[in-house]
Amino acid sequence: MARYSAMSSIAERYDRTADAYQRWWGPVLEPTALGVLGLVGPSIPDDGAGIHLLDIGTGTGALAVAAAERWPAIRVTGLDGSAGMLALARRELHRRLGRAADERVEFVTGRAERMPFADASFDIAVSSFVLQLVPHRPRTLAETLRVLRPGGLLRFVTWRASDTPFAPDEALYEVLDELEIDDPEEPEEVRAGDFSSPAAAAAQLRRAGFRDVSAREQVLVHRYDPATYLDFLEQYAERGRFLGLDDRTAHEVRARTAERLARLPPDAFIWRAPVVSVRARRPPR
Ligand SMILES: C[S@@+](CC[C@H](N)C(=O)[O-])C[C@H]1O[C@@H](n2cnc3c(N)ncnc32)[C@H](O)[C@@H]1O
Repeated sequence: MARYSAMSSIAERYDRTADAYQRWWGPVLEPTALGVLGLVGPSIPDDGAGIHLLDIGTGTGALAVAAAERWPAIRVTGLDGSAGMLALARRELHRRLGRAADERVEFVTGRAERMPFADASFDIAVSSFVLQLVPHRPRTLAETLRVLRPGGLLRFVTWRASDTPFAPDEALYEVLDELEIDDPEEPEEVRAGDFSSPAAAAAQLRRAGFRDVSAREQVLVHRYDPATYLDFLEQYAERGRFLGLDDRTAHEVRARTAERLARLPPDAFIWRAPVVSVRARRPPR
């Protein structure tokens, strides 16, 4: 039971922040996420005919919509726990491909650890920045194995654990310390967490029954715009903290953080974060 209530709190968070996600966080992840599609490309015929692709935790549909755009005959299913994120994914699909795309692309609300699909439904499963969030990763991997056809391919990318400080974030944290503002009390989410290394990721996939497993590290590089970094913190990354402040304190935090951010050189806004990219197959029959 606990893991399902944990999931609903994650889904509720994404429901609440879907618009801000699409504006602020999706673009940070997108180039690395799309790399996953590049890697499955050689396993898909030119028009995608005969392939059914599953995007686990599709969110606002970055991979699902791009796959439908790239392979005009592919079938795509995007699964996500957040109906709010899926509403944006549908909107993006219609904006880019029109409503005719509904015939081969569907978005389904559901949990990755109990997927609402029959066994062996998909040829390929992809996922970007989701497997760190699921409450129970072995269960999610077992489900992925079940819904892939024998010999089917899984490719995903997720974070590798890192605690390297990022100067623009430190600017805010120093101000919060200076003003003696405590962390907001937010319910703790139960989640699997980041992989400690590519080797740990590969071992977990093998334990789940996957074969032909490989995992490697990449670095996500994103150049933030110094002019909007404070808005990014306030509207997305540190939204919970700002919401807990009264107007006067929030104004003070903003002003002091802006001063510190203005003193940083532009290169301090280049974020580098390690990710793990994994490939695996369900064993053939
Ligand atoms: C960081 S977003 C990534 C979205 C998208 N894949 C991308 O790259 O932009 C994580 C997504 O995973 C979904 N999610 C998290 N845990 C989930 C679970 N257990 N089952 C289904 N979806 C889940 C969230 O609702 C959210 O939309």
